[in-house]
Amino acid sequence: MNFTSAEFVVSSTDYKKCPPGDKPEYAFIGRSNVGKSSLINMLANHKNLAKTSSKPGKTQLINHFLMDKKWYLVDLPGYGWSKVSKEKKRQWQGMITDYLLHRKNLYLLFVLLDSRHPPQPIDIEFIRWVGEQGIPIAIILTKSDKISKNKILTNKRLLENALKKDWDTLPTIFISSAQNKAGKIEISDYIRSTSEL
Ligand code: GTP
Ligand code: MG
Repeated sequence: MNFTSAEFVVSSTDYKKCPPGDKPEYAFIGRSNVGKSSLINMLANHKNLAKTSSKPGKTQLINHFLMDKKWYLVDLPGYGWSKVSKEKKRQWQGMITDYLLHRKNLYLLFVLLDSRHPPQPIDIEFIRWVGEQGIPIAIILTKSDKISKNKILTNKRLLENALKKDWDTLPTIFISSAQNKAGKIEISDYIRSTSEL
């Protein structure tokens, strides 16, 4: 079932400036350009709710969207974007880390990976770190319209094998496309089922 209303609330530079943590919150993270903002627009049935760009580094703040007046969807900046200064990288990393560690109403973090590529060390390291912090996650393999089903399954298996070293029970993995709306129903239902919305 679709979510019926979506509204932008605020962009924050710091978790302390985020809206009151009185609602279930689902955040989206992953490398720059992986398709976080596009996926959020797909889930929200909105073309331009979250700003997207073909150039990496578009989302630079913590963006809250209020969904069905009941829960928050959060668009985060990407990690691993090489074309920013070390200082800026440190700043972003601090902002994201603080948010992930301190946001008490964060129900689940979706970690997005590009389905066209085998898992990259930066993604595996990030997933290991969030796991160690006890942050609940699910994984989404994005841009599935750009590659054959077979290749996606191969990359998914490589990811599972890499994660098995750290995880006893693997996180749920979804396959999505903001282009043809693959995964939309599954991800929406998962959000509902994990929060009783
Ligand atoms: P940052 O905010 O820079 O970290 O990027 P992001 O992860 O939010 O990515 P964004 O949604 O802005 O998408 C990056 C580019 O990939 C844009 O040109 C999108 O149109 C394209 N894109 C995103 N998702 C898909 C998809 O599922 N299929 C295809 N074909 N293109 C996609
Ligand atoms: Mg973005």
